[in-house]
Amino acid sequence: MRLPGPFSMLRLSLGLAVAVSVMGGASQQAPSAAALVGRSASNTSNSDCSRECMTTIVTQILDSIVAHDPRTLPMATVYRATENSHPAALGMMTLWRTVTKAGPPSLLAIDTTIGTAHFALDISEGNDATESVLRGRVKVVDQQITELELFINRYRGDHGFSFSAAELPTNYKALMSPPANRTKASRATLEALSEALFATSSNFSVSIGDDCQFTEIGWKVVDPGTYGNGSTDPLGCSWPSGHPTDTNARVGLVIDEELGFVVTSGIVPGKVYPYGPYGNLSAFIPNTLSAPQEVQEAYFEEMKALGTVPLLSPTGATGDTLEVLQYYNDELQAMQINVYLSGPNMTSPWL
Ligand SMILES: *[C@@H]1O[C@H](CO)[C@@H](O)[C@H](O)[C@H]1NC(C)=O
Ligand SMILES: *[C@@H]1O[C@H](CO)[C@@H](O)[C@H](O)[C@H]1NC(C)=O
Ligand SMILES: *[C@@H]1O[C@H](CO)[C@@H](O)[C@H](O)[C@H]1NC(C)=O
Ligand SMILES: *[C@@H]1O[C@H](CO)[C@@H](O)[C@H](O)[C@H]1NC(C)=O
Ligand SMILES: *[C@@H]1O[C@H](CO)[C@@H](O)[C@H](O)[C@H]1NC(C)=O
Ligand SMILES: *[C@@H]1O[C@H](CO)[C@@H](O)[C@H](O)[C@H]1NC(C)=O
Repeated sequence: MRLPGPFSMLRLSLGLAVAVSVMGGASQQAPSAAALVGRSASNTSNSDCSRECMTTIVTQILDSIVAHDPRTLPMATVYRATENSHPAALGMMTLWRTVTKAGPPSLLAIDTTIGTAHFALDISEGNDATESVLRGRVKVVDQQITELELFINRYRGDHGFSFSAAELPTNYKALMSPPANRTKASRATLEALSEALFATSSNFSVSIGDDCQFTEIGWKVVDPGTYGNGSTDPLGCSWPSGHPTDTNARVGLVIDEELGFVVTSGIVPGKVYPYGPYGNLSAFIPNTLSAPQEVQEAYFEEMKALGTVPLLSPTGATGDTLEVLQYYNDELQAMQINVYLSGPNMTSPWL
């Protein structure tokens, strides 16, 4: 399942390939206007923030959140910011009120060419030891923060299915130490990979590494099966031809040529269905995955006829996706489907 949680579910039903494809994809279409805007904005005078400088800014963001004080941050005169897909001034965001422990980031992808970074880590809120996942993208111009796109996934229903704040640090740590003798991909190759992810068609052929790690919000994706007869083994990565597409996908948001990370955003319309052997779980399935959706429709009718458990009514939703891929040795090494769900017919404030 390349799909985010929801996608993973799909994948389960369809078979790995389909689900996976949801998130990734092929795409080699002309970049959208949004993508072009992002690019043009991003390549302006950012060479003045090195990897060390970007790391410092990410650390400042996390420290500021824990201190409940956004005033310490080097914000640009005018900045763009969202928390879970909606815009808000930093001091109005829930994160700056509730987070009590954060950092350092378990995953940190840095693009010194356009001055962006993506980070992800487990966090604590309030007095609660229960951990959530914080992930975000920052853009810096003249060493000032111009864009901050933050997400906090607190549990499975925020995105669809798979979630593990506890396993995130170990899973992501492996990605931060790729083999020293790896063959790094060029920036052009990483850009092509990003463009292929949500593309309706692409001539970029993606090979999957033997150890490619497939996660959704920190969790190595496992497909328990709609009827509980799936496998407990983690699913590998896949790059199916049938996958979610988005002609307005934001490509090349972060391209880390050193570690091989690529961050891409797509808006994925879908539906949340009841799921699992007891009918008490749910999963988001992109509309492009019609076969998995049909499996869940049949399952829903079956469970409804049994009438033994309360079932979530299948409901439209939109997955705001910030997918992280890692690519070196000419192969895909990791695929992270990170999603946050909103209501149906939603779009992104970043478009
Ligand atoms: C930004 O990108 C545009 C288009 O690729 C290019 O023409 C321009 O020279 C770049 N600017 C900088 C500062 O790199
Ligand atoms: C890198 O080193 C490992 C172990 O030392 C070896 O198995 C692998 O073939 C090497 N890879 C390349 C691309 O040289
Ligand atoms: C892939 O398509 C792009 C744009 O359509 C083209 O520029 C490029 O040459 C193609 N690459 C290959 C390997 O065919
Ligand atoms: C799981 O059970 C369902 C319903 O009995 C069946 O249709 C499906 O093929 C099974 N899947 C596997 C992987 O055994
Ligand atoms: C779903 O129901 C099963 C069986 O009662 C239970 O073991 C499981 O904890 C429940 N899961 C959730 C997420 O409620
Ligand atoms: C809006 O969402 C509903 C519910 O998911 C869906 O049936 C409908 O096709 C969507 N409309 C558009 C224009 O996408």
